[in-house]
Amino acid sequence: MDIINSISVKDFQRLHIMLGWKFLDNKKVEKSIKNSMLKVSCIEDGKTVGIARVVGDGFTHGFLTDVMVDPDYQGKGIGKAMITHLLARLQEYVNKNCDEFMLELTPTKDNAEFYVKCGFKHDPNKIEGCYLWIKNQNIYTSSSKKYVMKLNDSPFKKIKSGKKTIEMRLNDEKRKLLKKDDIIIFCNINDNSKTIKTKVVDIHKFENFEQLYNKFDKIKLGYNKNEVANPVDMEQYYSKEDIKKYGVVGIEIKLLK
Ligand SMILES: CC(C)(COP(=O)(O)OP(=O)(O)OC[C@H]1O[C@@H](n2cnc3c(N)ncnc32)[C@H](O)[C@@H]1OP(=O)(O)O)[C@@H](O)C(=O)NCCC(=O)NCCS
Repeated sequence: MDIINSISVKDFQRLHIMLGWKFLDNKKVEKSIKNSMLKVSCIEDGKTVGIARVVGDGFTHGFLTDVMVDPDYQGKGIGKAMITHLLARLQEYVNKNCDEFMLELTPTKDNAEFYVKCGFKHDPNKIEGCYLWIKNQNIYTSSSKKYVMKLNDSPFKKIKSGKKTIEMRLNDEKRKLLKKDDIIIFCNINDNSKTIKTKVVDIHKFENFEQLYNKFDKIKLGYNKNEVANPVDMEQYYSKEDIKKYGVVGIEIKLLK
């Protein structure tokens, strides 16, 4: 079995007819194949016995479509091999071009299980289709979680500039969930559309902000060179009681593209 990264109009039409699917105008087919993000054909016994393609915006969403295997060759692992090949190529694409990508499809009758076997999620109680999130492996590890945190304008700008690399918070129930390699999206409190994507490099826990301030350079905490870094500054955000109750955390982050 050979899998190649192209589809010919002739094979597309032949398989469509074989499966009793609608015949499309050659020009339409040519254009749809040309505009596909990814395409594959499977060659067996010197002929094309299967095709599949992905269409999409190339950045956030794609749709798996025209998955067809010649009836004489069905049930021999060809469909799964084509999808596995497409998913591997899509993973490479996502690693280079985006942070996460949702691949969706609407299965024809009784075929959802086939896609589940290919790794897709299918929960008919929630949505009719099948889907698969493909995450950039340079950003996400398999256990990375994504969190959103609100920030005032000044610390937001300091993080964006790359100077502030330690975000200080109470080590409350929410923060206790954080771990290395998680993704934090900081959202500007004045304008929700302004966001910064960061990755957690390390988590530093302390009993109070005095201990935290002693550990880090003030620039990393978000102060300017000419400012005095005073742990009492954090009491404008958190009460003494809460600091004592939860302790504090310095979340060390790095900026992501
Ligand atoms: C659906 C289709 C693409 C599957 O391709 P295939 O080459 O026959 O499937 P494979 O042999 O690769 O099957 C892979 C696995 O899925 C299972 N599977 C295949 N079709 C299935 C189905 N309809 N329901 C449940 N399981 C199915 C196989 O048993 C196999 O399981 P295994 O890995 O445990 O052995 C193919 O049957 C086809 O072209 N059907 C007609 C066109 C069509 O409906 N396309 C889908 C459009 S959404």
